Amino acid sequence: MNVAIIGTGYVGLTTGACLAFLGHKVSCVDADASKIAALSRGEVPFYEPHLETLLDDARRNLSFTTSYSEAIPEAQVIFIAVGTPTGNGGAPDLRYLQAAAHGVGEQLGPHLTVIVNKSTVPIGSGNWVESLVRETLQRNGSGDPKCFAVASNPEFLREGSAIHDTLYPDRVVVGADQPKTAEVLYTLYRPLLDQTFAAPTYLPRPDRVGAVPLISTDLASAELIKYAANAFLSLKISYINEIGQLAERVGADISQVARGIGLDARIGTRFLQAGVGWGGSCFGKDTAALIATAGEYKLQMPIVAAAREVNSRQRERVIEKLQTELKILKGRNIGILGLAFKPDTDDLREAPALEIAQKLKERGARVRAHDPVAMERFRRERPDLDVTLCVSAEDVARDADAVVLVTEWSQYRDLDWEALGASMRSPIVLDARYVLDRDRLARAGFRYLGLAG
Ligand SMILES: NC(=O)c1ccc[n+]([C@@H]2O[C@H](COP(=O)([O-])OP(=O)(O)OC[C@H]3O[C@@H](n4cnc5c(N)ncnc54)[C@H](O)[C@@H]3O)[C@@H](O)[C@H]2O)c1
Repeated sequence: MNVAIIGTGYVGLTTGACLAFLGHKVSCVDADASKIAALSRGEVPFYEPHLETLLDDARRNLSFTTSYSEAIPEAQVIFIAVGTPTGNGGAPDLRYLQAAAHGVGEQLGPHLTVIVNKSTVPIGSGNWVESLVRETLQRNGSGDPKCFAVASNPEFLREGSAIHDTLYPDRVVVGADQPKTAEVLYTLYRPLLDQTFAAPTYLPRPDRVGAVPLISTDLASAELIKYAANAFLSLKISYINEIGQLAERVGADISQVARGIGLDARIGTRFLQAGVGWGGSCFGKDTAALIATAGEYKLQMPIVAAAREVNSRQRERVIEKLQTELKILKGRNIGILGLAFKPDTDDLREAPALEIAQKLKERGARVRAHDPVAMERFRRERPDLDVTLCVSAEDVARDADAVVLVTEWSQYRDLDWEALGASMRSPIVLDARYVLDRDRLARAGFRYLGLAG
């Protein structure tokens, strides 16, 4: 099929690359000319494992443009994958979605086109986008208003495993108020739903993956599924962090407690690791949006609100722990390992490391940091934060009064911690993700701190 993708960020570019890999003709549009120029040169504007290779494999089915008039008229399916950041009062800022809907309305072709909200958008956005496109069509006096329909197809990929999650999803959710609309998307996704495509050699199909379940529903339900899923994952993380605080008081080991809970199949071990809490562009924004939507209906969401509160407390706890240990933060050298909001991405949006660095600076500490892939981005996006970037973890540790492991990159587990400790002013490590071997660190002469005891 002919597909257009609006927005070539983590979601749009991944979706475009995967659909092109499956054999569709995909035109990717972005308002950012430098992104499109980079993509046209074969460069990927952000770090995502396997994306560059997949784009290369699918290149003959892909094109990149800043121009809606090049991509939209031929498209049978148009995915809107623009950002929906938090706006005033917690509700998402929908200006990019609005601009995309207008742009689509101006260029829509004469055939049936399905416009798909892939961005995470508030409940009711399907209807809103439809009305924006219709308005534009009427204003321009062109096109048959009946020749398009809007669907919702929320995205569940995780940055760092975005290609894997897109090719081998747990489920596909399609929300549409007309069966004909949904059928277009089933046709598009058929190879993926049936798992009949030849898997890339670098990302083989996992043994457990068979036919992918399809949730076919109405627009509002599809939109709510996305928010409810993200809020649930957020509260799982905050729940274990709340239990972590009690674990600290009673002398329990939170990692063991989490494992003991998570192996219960009804609960599951994933998203149940205690630590500094969630970051990233989604959980904070989507929980705020869910609360804002509920507010429009005079409803409160105390569970979701509490998850947010516990999460922000965790970041403060890093500072409290360091203060308790070092007494005075002013003038101290604090090392941070990991800047990205999680491993295998360079995404810094809502990254805990940035807030922690900011708080440490406010208290007069000097901050040195390292990240395997996110430092270039940090330099570009956060010149305001006075953090010294180091070429290696060893460089971070040299003369440090304490090192905080904030992002659990696998290479940090296997560092020569003995040598690191020897080069520090005081060998203190705050393992804000509970991934280090505390016995080994103790043997290496470290004072090991977790966030919960
Ligand atoms: N990143 C994730 O892990 C993830 C996962 C699931 C869902 N989502 C949702 O997907 C959406 C996109 O997220 P993202 O992380 O890919 O965002 P992003 O910021 O990485 O990318 C958005 C892109 O849209 C472009 N854009 C903005 N307005 C445009 C316009 N009018 N026309 C063309 N291009 C335009 C921007 O230049 C940018 O390249 C959000 O709603 C997000 O909540 C994200």
